[in-house]
Amino acid sequence: MENHSHVPATTHRKAIGQVEIAIATSGSGKVLATGANTGLGYRAALECAALGASRLILVVRSREKGEAAKARIARETKCTPDSIEVMTVGLSLFSSVKEFVKCLSQQVPYLHAALLCWGTI
Ligand SMILES: NC(=O)c1ccc[n+]([C@@H]2O[C@H](COP(=O)([O-])OP(=O)(O)OC[C@H]3O[C@@H](n4cnc5c(N)ncnc54)[C@H](OP(=O)(O)O)[C@@H]3O)[C@@H](O)[C@H]2O)c1
Repeated sequence: MENHSHVPATTHRKAIGQVEIAIATSGSGKVLATGANTGLGYRAALECAALGASRLILVVRSREKGEAAKARIARETKCTPDSIEVMTVGLSLFSSVKEFVKCLSQQVPYLHAALLCWGTI
């Protein structure tokens, strides 16, 4: 069983505009980013991949745009595409958000960070 309570002492920090992202150097970070195909969400997801997130979940409403963002992030950071997953959800509809959260919690028991660049999950 994985130990979820471990807090690594060393982190990388990166400023994106006025926001600072910190991620553990251990490479064990599981990060979710909404609105991740463009704008702030994309940029935040890209930085997390560059900082060594072990699993990056791009939450988007268009699979096509999400896959394109995944390819760009993998190309620009040289991280393995296997570490990036695209999940789709329409964040305007609460029933869709609830369905997404149910699906997510079945697949991912915990996250180290959630970058909510569109909507709130
Ligand atoms: N940029 C800034 O300087 C700034 C400053 C303060 C606050 N904000 C706020 O931060 C948020 C992100 O800004 P941004 O500049 O990155 O915006 P953006 O470039 O327009 O990106 C918005 C993202 O949210 C997604 N999205 C929109 N409606 C959605 C829905 N109903 N369900 C799921 N995803 C949806 C978009 O997907 P599609 O590509 O498919 O449309 C896109 O990925 C916004 O709420 C904005 O108001 C931005």
